[in-house]
Amino acid sequence: MIIGGSASQDLAAHVARELGEELCYVETKKFPDGERYLRINGEISDEVTVIQSTGYPQDENLMELLFIIANLKDLGAKKVRAVVPYMGYARQEKRFNPGETISAKIICELIQAAGADEFITFNIHEECVLNFFDIPARNISAMPAIAEFLDKTSEDNLLVIAPDKGAYGFAQEISEIIGCDCTYLTKVRLGPDKVETKIVDVRCDSESENTVNVDSVKGKHAIIIDDIIATGGTIVNAINILKQYGASSIDVCCVHPILTNNGATRIYSAGAQKIIGTNSLSSDTSRVSLAKSIADALRD
Ligand code: R5P
Repeated sequence: MIIGGSASQDLAAHVARELGEELCYVETKKFPDGERYLRINGEISDEVTVIQSTGYPQDENLMELLFIIANLKDLGAKKVRAVVPYMGYARQEKRFNPGETISAKIICELIQAAGADEFITFNIHEECVLNFFDIPARNISAMPAIAEFLDKTSEDNLLVIAPDKGAYGFAQEISEIIGCDCTYLTKVRLGPDKVETKIVDVRCDSESENTVNVDSVKGKHAIIIDDIIATGGTIVNAINILKQYGASSIDVCCVHPILTNNGATRIYSAGAQKIIGTNSLSSDTSRVSLAKSIADALRD
């Protein structure tokens, strides 16, 4: 049995269809004072999978996830799997400054305390967050699904580019599947919404066999890949550099299209042709479905 929370209804429906499982209806409403009412209709199976991302509004979506999990257990479900395609608060996995809340740890503890028996997410910002769970917790890569989409829809002559070294693994994963070159830029973060891409030379990891230099960008169909696009600052910097080096076109891909602060407009204004995100978060850019990847993970 599959249950989709308010943030992931469409995705949950497609996962249920992939697996040929029943999709259970959840009734939710808000009372006039803002508190949430939740009711799960129908008979509860022994094993239930809840699919709910905890992006904006994070606190509401998280609370709903906790309500669903705890209610399922209370109603007799023996095993509840929580699939959280985008996990909010995962970027604060440690105290960067004294006195800060380790948000990611608290979120994991809450999901577990609600009664989840297993946790699955996609491209979590820091994989070490999963160590906060005592239950089995898996981090799945959306790159095969993104690569499959790109393979079907993109022109030849591709160059996959990570906007910083941290995202280079994503670029490598995609380029291996599609069979094209990849490289990365170097980024310096000056503040939460201010980013500077310092090294304007496009180069490849010295250990890599693919040697991509500045000349290799010229005339290429560039695809920038990152895990998250939030304000778009990182991507805009990357687009500016790639334009400077003569990329013939630039598309932008990510797993989690948060796209806050007019991020999409800034990216298009900078010169991107397309923004391609997954449906870990519902957005106009959610062109790649994670339904098959989730169904495959649930079959394991
Ligand atoms: C950071 O390391 C992430 O991989 C993304 O690059 C970052 O979250 C993107 O943020 P923004 O779109 O605000 O530059």
